[in-house]
Amino acid sequence: MSEPFYPSSTFAWQALKTLSEQAPSVQTAMNDIEWQRKAQLQLHELTLNVSHHRMSADIFDALLALLNASPFAKLRAGLFSGEAINLTEHRAVGHTRIRTPEFIRTDPTLKAIREFTQTIHSGALKGATQRPFKHIVNIGIGGSDLGPKMVCQALDHPDTSRLTCHFVANVDGAEINTVLRNCDPETTLIVIASKTFTTQETLMNAQTARAWLRASLPDSPERAQHLVALTTAATKAVDFGVAPDQIFAFDEDIGGRYSLWSSIGLTISLQSGFETFETLLLGGHAMDQHFAHAPLPQNLPVVMALMAVWYGNFLGAQSQAVIPYCERMSLFPAFLQQLDMESLGKSTTREGHSTDYQTGLITWGQTGTNGQHAFFQLLHQGTHLVPLDFIGFAEDPLSSEPAHRALRLNLAAQVTALAQGQSGADPHQDYAGNKPSSVIMLDALTPFNLGMLIALYEHKVFVCSAIWNINAFDQWGVELGKALANAFDRGELEQPPVTQALLDQLQLNQTKQKP
Ligand code: F6P
Repeated sequence: MSEPFYPSSTFAWQALKTLSEQAPSVQTAMNDIEWQRKAQLQLHELTLNVSHHRMSADIFDALLALLNASPFAKLRAGLFSGEAINLTEHRAVGHTRIRTPEFIRTDPTLKAIREFTQTIHSGALKGATQRPFKHIVNIGIGGSDLGPKMVCQALDHPDTSRLTCHFVANVDGAEINTVLRNCDPETTLIVIASKTFTTQETLMNAQTARAWLRASLPDSPERAQHLVALTTAATKAVDFGVAPDQIFAFDEDIGGRYSLWSSIGLTISLQSGFETFETLLLGGHAMDQHFAHAPLPQNLPVVMALMAVWYGNFLGAQSQAVIPYCERMSLFPAFLQQLDMESLGKSTTREGHSTDYQTGLITWGQTGTNGQHAFFQLLHQGTHLVPLDFIGFAEDPLSSEPAHRALRLNLAAQVTALAQGQSGADPHQDYAGNKPSSVIMLDALTPFNLGMLIALYEHKVFVCSAIWNINAFDQWGVELGKALANAFDRGELEQPPVTQALLDQLQLNQTKQKP
């Protein structure tokens, strides 16, 4: 085991603690020419503006010193060279590998995805009753749901979407029953997305869908054409009844929350076309190149991570909010929740010691302007410090000019109101201001730009993990709950009386169960 690293033991951490005692206000930073010179960053059609922060050039330099004292450089090199940086699972981390132009050109699975997409779109591959496919039901949970669902919603377009996609995640049977009620089995493709092909929710929903197909379609070999699997566990998918040529595999080094770039993205390709999926991958790759090579002070993911560390570790923030001003991005906060919180919700360092500092921030959010009429009150006048990311788009061909202008004006107004505040005669109408926010502005919601945006947040999370010296790529914390659900199901485990009483209330007492 290597030498333990605690960021909290570095000189930079101590310097930041001292600096935090007299942190400038957002208003001061807005007039600080030295900081403002550093506060606008760009990559292709994506601009990051960090003007409105409790920040100065000195604080920023101290944050960079903290980054340089951390294992960041070594880990970033390991990420791109395929080293086993996911040390608790003893494997490399492959999501940047599978979006390189070289991989896109040569990977046989991607070629199969392209061909499968074409056969479905052209109608060459039909269902068991010779009708073309019109609906996709993507069954998966966590990364096998949130990524493809978010991208499908973001890129859905009346001129280019070819099939209607539905997503089912929850083990709540009412969800799949509702979705299936709105589909015709003769024209529906069931896509089972599960890295492990062992996830309880996904398998139960897949069984429901398989029974639904069997109940309505003739018993012929063509019936298997309605089932597709996206998984690393091909044998399990075959055992389930998926035809081997309808299984799209991916590698173990692709983590669930990073898997939309892999064959888990098949549903994106089926909805929006293979070229759209490919362009999304290339957008992700553009951000990878930037992250790997741009100088640290101008490196977008680095700058965003430094902000999170500054507010979380030195100014007492517990959460961060993301507000996209675009309704088609309404699932982006939920996607980021898994990306950020499953990656950074750790309290053990890479060397196996307890952290003595706060790690991941609670990530939440909703689209603007909707959020303005719901929780923004707390942001403007509440007692919590919540750094915000506003995400905006310069144009939106699916909107109208006046509506889109109103949307952008609202974004700008919120940044200003939060930063500057306003003193009122009545204390109830007093706005303290000094609330920090970043603005990410993109020219339009294109596949390439969305690819860059997702990869920006992936790498932000990576940088935070390096500074906090935690492994961003495992998720042991979710295992205990799964194991207990199984143990309850089997009637195992001696329960403390209060827990037993709760199980009784939930009608989970074995003896009370209906036959
Ligand atoms: O329980 C958490 C988790 O393992 C996520 O990390 C993952 O994205 C999700 O479950 C689904 O897993 P699978 O794709 O193997 O069904």
